[in-house]
This record gives sequence, C-alpha cells and structure tokens, in this order.
Amino acid sequence: MHKLAVAGTGYVGLVAGVCFAEVGHQVTCVDIDENKVKTMRNGISPIYEAGLEELMRKNYATGRIDYTTDYKAAYKDADVIFIGVGTPEQPDGSANLSYIATVARQIAESVENDCLVVVKSTVPVGTNDKVEQFIQDFLVHDVKVEVASNPEFLAQGSAVNDTLHAERIIIGTESKWAEERLMAVYEPFHLPVVSVNRRSAEMIKYASNDFLALKISYMNDIANLCELVGADIQDVAKGMSYDDRIGKKFLNAGIGFGGSCFPKDTKALEYIARQHGYELKTVKAAIDVNKDQKLSLYKKASKRLITFNGLKVAVLGLTFKPGTDDLREAASLENIPLLLEQGADLYAYDPVGANNFAAHYPAGKHGKGSMTYVANVEQALEGANVCFIFTEWREIKAVAPEAYKRFMRTPLVFDGRNIYRVEDMQEAGVEYHSIGRKVTDRKVLKGVE
Ligand code: UDX
Repeated sequence: MHKLAVAGTGYVGLVAGVCFAEVGHQVTCVDIDENKVKTMRNGISPIYEAGLEELMRKNYATGRIDYTTDYKAAYKDADVIFIGVGTPEQPDGSANLSYIATVARQIAESVENDCLVVVKSTVPVGTNDKVEQFIQDFLVHDVKVEVASNPEFLAQGSAVNDTLHAERIIIGTESKWAEERLMAVYEPFHLPVVSVNRRSAEMIKYASNDFLALKISYMNDIANLCELVGADIQDVAKGMSYDDRIGKKFLNAGIGFGGSCFPKDTKALEYIARQHGYELKTVKAAIDVNKDQKLSLYKKASKRLITFNGLKVAVLGLTFKPGTDDLREAASLENIPLLLEQGADLYAYDPVGANNFAAHYPAGKHGKGSMTYVANVEQALEGANVCFIFTEWREIKAVAPEAYKRFMRTPLVFDGRNIYRVEDMQEAGVEYHSIGRKVTDRKVLKGVE
C-alpha cells in the first residue's frame, strides 16, 4: 500500500485515483473547486462515467479515498503524486501547460518527504524534464523529488474498465529509484508494463493517439472514395480487418473523430514537429481529412435540399461518442450552428448530452432558426423533414428503420455513424444517406414526398 495524491479530478485524475484506491492504495484527490470536493465526498462524480460512482462510494466508505482542496496536506507526505490536470489546446495547436505549472509549484512548496511526481496528463515531449527542474528550483524542504511520465490511455465511456484492465502501462523514468517506485504502485494491477525513458513515454502517448486518429481519417478518406466508385466502406473494412497487421478496431468510417484527445493530440504533435522544423505530413493529413469529414453530411444534405429554412430537422445524438456527456469537438457542434443559420427548426435528442448542449445553444430562437430539446427519438422524428444522426447511442441504434417512415413527414435520413444496413433502410422506404455507402434508391420514395 502506498500513500498517493492525485492532482486534478477530471477524467484522467479522478478515474486514476479511484482505481488506485480500488487496488488497495491510500489516495487523496486534490481539486481547487470546494463544491466539487463536497459532491465527490457524497459519492457523486463530476463526470458521467459508467461504474465510477459505485467505486467512489465503496472506497470512500472504507476510507481508502478522500477528496480535498487542501493540497499542502495531501502532498506533504505522499509517496507518489500523480498529476492529471488538463493541457487544453491553444489557438496555435500547442498545449497550454499552465495547470501543470501551478500544480508543480504547489508540490514544490508542500512536499516534506522524498517523493515521485508522476505526470499522467498528455504533455509535449520534453515537458517532464522541465517539470522536474521547475519543482527542484522551487523546493522548500530538502527532499528528493523526481518526475516520471505515465501517460493515460483510457477512453471515455469505458474509463474505469480501461484503467483496471489496461492493455499496457507505460512508465517513463530517468532513474532506477523512480522506476521501482512507480512499478510498485502498479504491481497490484497485474498488467503488462513497458518501462522506457521519460521522453519516449511522452512520445508513446502522442504516437498512439495520432496513429488511431490517422486510422480513422484514412477510413474516412477511403469511404469518400467508395461513394464515388460505388464500393461499400463497411464491406471494405470487413475485408481489411481479417489481416492481423491491420486489426479489427478503429476502422469505422463516420463523421470524423471528436473528443478530448484525438483532435488535441494530433494538432499538438503537428505543432511540436513544426517547432523542430519538421513537417509531420501523415498527422497533418489526418487533421485535414477530419476537418472536412465533420461537415460531409451537411454538405450532402445541402446538395439534396433547396434550403433548410423553415424545415423541421431531427437531430439524433449530440455527444462526440456514446457513453459520455462530453461535447468536446463533437460533430454536432459544427453542424448545428450551420443549420440554425440556415433557419432550420431543430429537434434534438441525446440521452445524456442535451443539458450540456443547451448550455451552448439554449432552447428557443437562434436567428432565423430554433432549438428544441426532446425526451425521446419519436418526438424528434415526429413531422420532421430531415433527420441527422451524429452519435451512435444504443437508444438511437434501437430505432427501427420503419420508425423514420412512420414518424417523419419525409423519411430523409443523413446518418454520420452508419448505424443501419442500407438494405434495411431501402426496404423501409427511407431515403438514406450515410458514409461511404450507396444512397438508397429514390424510387421507393415515390408517393411519400
Ligand atoms: C481516445 C483513445 O481511444 C484513448 O486511448 C485516449 O486515451 C483518449 O482518446 P476517446 O476520445 O474517449 O479515447 O474515444 P474513442 O472511443 O477513441 O473515440 C474518439 C473519436 O473517434 C470519437 O469521436 C469516435 O466516434 C471516433 N471514432 C472511433 C471513429 O470515428 N471511428 C472509429 O472506428 C473509432
């Protein structure tokens, strides 16, 4: 058992803290927000994440985890302090490291024992060298502090499972002492550990995320070509996936990648390369394809319809992916403003993301258009002229093709997630546009428009 402190209670920090407690460590999570701390002590998570609150309550009850704003008390005698604060993207694509710097300063002023500081946040290669120097420069007590890199690979919606059963733990250290101390923290997880130097660990995070982003953009690029040459991207992906070298995962073409990692980490690595006078062409291509892909459905719909003005538009799904209430870089945020500008009356359904979206676009008039949030799919579809699908929530995938025909005024669907079989939509008499697949035969629509 180790005494751990975790700085930051966002996705990375909170999930890590709770999982460390779950495997038996003594954990104190630090956040600057007093209200958030109170809520967490009551077992309520500030983020929507399956299974997290159960573990928060269980480990709080046994005293293995606590939450505080008192960083001095938390850091003072911790064996290991994890930093999991945000590194948001700046307008030029670089990462904003001010939260990391603030925590580093607080650590330097608080630690009274030898301590390993572990950076879980995604930071530009070389940052942890600077963090170590920075802490040492500001140290108040005569103690040993080293910094390790330990990037996080959890995906939102499956964060707890991803942490407890990670495919690998990446440890980046510069001394045996640091390596052994961090290995010991992970020992109870019984997971494969890859131990490298600090800069390689920092790079593994970017290289992994950007590779996955590249894979998605590649499939989206091929999907767009499939549409032009009459191939079907899902059949193509299936055929590719049998090759172990390609793998079965992350081959889904769609409306582009969103979320807190891929968009930010692709731009950050591209920026790092530029700083070193190098053009990272592959990653740049992934970014460019993704930018266009987010508007591909809107462009298709604009070609198909004379105008959106005065049309009732059903929007199914707002979050960047299912299983989260997160809207960061979601396709909905790019498309909905355009539809509103064009004077569309939007009826949006999302099982958990509607409140967050309403904070950006409250219900009511927006210029010529309007925004209404509804409680279920049927209410969104009722009398609609066109429907956009932005997120493949289970609740949306469960909607039968016939429902579009039954509820909509004109069964015209633009699906950014390829959730239906083209044949099924055709049979149901729905005009169905998706990504990288053929459009259903207009003939079946005779008499419904
Ligand atoms: C990702 C990584 O998976 C995770 O390892 C890293 O630590 C953080 O970034 P996350 O952003 O939570 O996790 O979600 P993920 O499931 O990877 O999806 C990211 C985006 O890519 C979503 O918008 C998703 O819809 C899209 N995506 C994913 C595709 O368009 N096609 C795919 O085949 C897979």
